[in-house]
Amino acid sequence: MGNKSSIDASVDKRRTFAIISHPDAGKTTITEQLLLFGGIVRQAGTVKAKKSGNFAKSDWMEIEKKRGISVTSSVMQFDYGGKRINILDTPGHQDFSEDTYRTLMAVDSAVMVIDAAKGIEPQTKKLFQICKMRGIPIFTFMNKLDRDSRDPMELISQLEDVLGIEGYPMNWPVGSGKILRGLYDRYNRRVELYRPEDKNKPYLPLDEDGNLLEPSKLEEDNVYRDAKESMDLIAEAGNPFDAEKIRNGEQTPVFFGSALVNFGVKTFLDAYLKFAPKPGEHETENEVDLKPDDKQFTGFVFKIQANMNPKHRDRIAFVRVCSGEFEKGMDVTLQRNQKKLRLSNVTEFMADTRENVENAVAGDIIGLYDTGNFQIGDTIYAGKREVKFTKLPQFTPELFMKVSAKNVMKQKSFHKGIKQLVQEGAVQLYTAYTTGDYILGAVGQLQFEVFQFRMQNEYNSEVVMEPMGKKTARWIDPEQLDEKMSSSRNILVKDGHGDPLFLFENSFAERWFKEKYPDVKLTSKL
Ligand code: G4P
Repeated sequence: MGNKSSIDASVDKRRTFAIISHPDAGKTTITEQLLLFGGIVRQAGTVKAKKSGNFAKSDWMEIEKKRGISVTSSVMQFDYGGKRINILDTPGHQDFSEDTYRTLMAVDSAVMVIDAAKGIEPQTKKLFQICKMRGIPIFTFMNKLDRDSRDPMELISQLEDVLGIEGYPMNWPVGSGKILRGLYDRYNRRVELYRPEDKNKPYLPLDEDGNLLEPSKLEEDNVYRDAKESMDLIAEAGNPFDAEKIRNGEQTPVFFGSALVNFGVKTFLDAYLKFAPKPGEHETENEVDLKPDDKQFTGFVFKIQANMNPKHRDRIAFVRVCSGEFEKGMDVTLQRNQKKLRLSNVTEFMADTRENVENAVAGDIIGLYDTGNFQIGDTIYAGKREVKFTKLPQFTPELFMKVSAKNVMKQKSFHKGIKQLVQEGAVQLYTAYTTGDYILGAVGQLQFEVFQFRMQNEYNSEVVMEPMGKKTARWIDPEQLDEKMSSSRNILVKDGHGDPLFLFENSFAERWFKEKYPDVKLTSKL
């Protein structure tokens, strides 16, 4: 086992983050560029291949195939600039599910990729809110500068207006699309040229006042002048750089560039590594003072991925290491039931090419092959001192389905399947107060499809799903609850902990309720 100071040095090097974006903003493209900087040359399209197409029901074989790939690309690790970087994938598209949210519980910072022609889009907003809730630092990359982009000033103010986070531009685009000249980089005091005349001179240095050190024809260029003027204006009237605010997720450093043509990506990565935090402490429920460099090995399960192969019922439990050093074959305790486990069948998501073999420490992710031991949020620890990490938050579902067993004679397998899949965190389960009906809740449609498929394949239980559409879930204090409050515009249900909540038809129904019962406090889980 490593001693404290060697663990400390290893932890110092870790940077663990996720990329959040709306589909098509360029997350896959930028991920591939980052891997290239890390010297990881993947077969073209490896990251890409997992992108889901259209998940029609007949495509389940496809899902299986793609799942296989996405397990290995769920965590990508590489070394760059003296750091060991872990990128945790947050699936976008139809894959959008609670998994995506939970992954954000296991990172220390997030990179927000925005299509500079489109600005902030809905899925980015949702993911951003989860990051904000955790108060983790967010770094922004405005992508696709090789295409005509929106006014950068507008993009920056959108951060504030739509997301409520201050933007601090580290660099500024000199044009975009056909007139893209480069980046006015105030942080590195240079202009990064998009198409340098001399390939060996991609940067023009700036003096302390932000003027070009050497004469250049750029000075006569209106596009350049506009960019410089904007940057000067921002330097004078914009938000000052505030490292503390960045750490708390109140200010985001903003970088511009194009992932596709690999412009500005390295500049982004270098600055990101300077400011991104190393693995932080995770709160415990039993108030153990546990620093990331503590010798005791601990971690928590933030995601469980079923392999979906009916022949091998194995699943992988993704564990974020929070302290100590993981060693293959080590003995740990599963806190929830005090079960002793030996961690021998493990996947480490290590860089493909790596000279110094090191064990996983805080910030790293290990994948445990699981035969049904683990649940989302479980703590594992080595040694005698009990550790219990704070519960992972439950996310407010937006989509709902009534579910029942097709064959009434098969209630047993139906209940067993539901129980296990809910424990695993695949979907949320609610029970209607009056009828006792089962209602499933999810943040994305794919969760339902996976549920139905797995019920059939793993539990031999055919289910009938009846879509209820979008609903607004609001919890109510049981003390304030009166069953008469339930009306045709809402459904009163119990969640997995037995806590009551209303599923409102729409925001109008919720407003109506609030007007009728002004003293009743409704909360969303977030
Ligand atoms: P995602 O993972 O966030 O969904 O986005 P992805 O990287 O797959 O990018 C979506 C599309 O945008 C892709 O084009 C990709 O090539 C393009 N793209 C990404 N970054 C840039 C950029 O900096 N500039 C420009 N011009 N395009 C960019 P596609 O046509 O949908 O896919 P493909 O057929 O090229 O693979």
